[in-house]
Amino acid sequence: MLVLDGKIASKAVKETLTEATKELIELGKRPPHLAAVLVGSDGASETYVASKVRTCEEIGFQSTLVRFEDTTTEEELLAKIEDLNNDNNIDGILVQLPLPKQISEQKVISKINPDKDVDGFHPISVGRLVQGMETFIPATPYGIMLMLEHFKLSTKGRHAVVIGRSNIVGRPMSILLSSNLLYGNCTVTICHSHTPNLADITRSADIIVAALGRPGFIKEDMVKEGAIVFDVGITRVDDTTAAKGYRIKGDVEYAGVSKKASAISPVPGGVGLMTIAGLMKNTMDAYNRRQK
Ligand code: GUN
Repeated sequence: MLVLDGKIASKAVKETLTEATKELIELGKRPPHLAAVLVGSDGASETYVASKVRTCEEIGFQSTLVRFEDTTTEEELLAKIEDLNNDNNIDGILVQLPLPKQISEQKVISKINPDKDVDGFHPISVGRLVQGMETFIPATPYGIMLMLEHFKLSTKGRHAVVIGRSNIVGRPMSILLSSNLLYGNCTVTICHSHTPNLADITRSADIIVAALGRPGFIKEDMVKEGAIVFDVGITRVDDTTAAKGYRIKGDVEYAGVSKKASAISPVPGGVGLMTIAGLMKNTMDAYNRRQK
């Protein structure tokens, strides 16, 4: 059984980006610059944004963290995005989701200049993805594709079952795995909360991407012998023995499922690290496209 170690696969991506950034500096150019916008003080969002900013520093990118109170108005946020769109020194913009309820996520996402849309959530980016055009691929599905590539896991003709239909993970993941790509060409089934007999479907999967946000949902008896399993879940569950009072749990019951899977990504240390690697690659791509 192969552990799909995100530390190993993301390190390879980060090393390539670090080298490329060094070369830019040697040529007298500025490094890529990511702007991350965080509204409010949700603990999980704070953690994700902090690790995005930290990774920028690690590989030599510039980063700017823009913070707003959770009482911020939609107008204030849209005005800031306008500024970032017009700032020639910023290559990539991400607005951490979810946003407080007085703010329309759709309006905010649509305001980002598609050339700087490193999250790949803008309707233009999604349209380009669907049509197989060059685009920014949302970071988590991109990270999973990078993992397939890193571990050279063949996907052609396999049955991939994606559980979850979010704009952030499930939907773009299903499009990528069914696309005519080296690590695509799967027959894809996308499942969600209204899917009956889910276990019958997962039992026929060669590849499972679990992105439903229910800790420990995928059990050993739902998985076929030899399946490849990606666990996208990152739910905080109370744990009085942990220093922070919680621990992170995936959507897959690792102990049982790893007995049957041929490859499985752990939580933590799996897909989460690849998400950041995907975002960093998108930021470098945004920089390169804007230099042209
Ligand atoms: N919230 C959960 N995942 C993501 C992500 O990949 N990007 C942003 N901006 N917000 C998120």
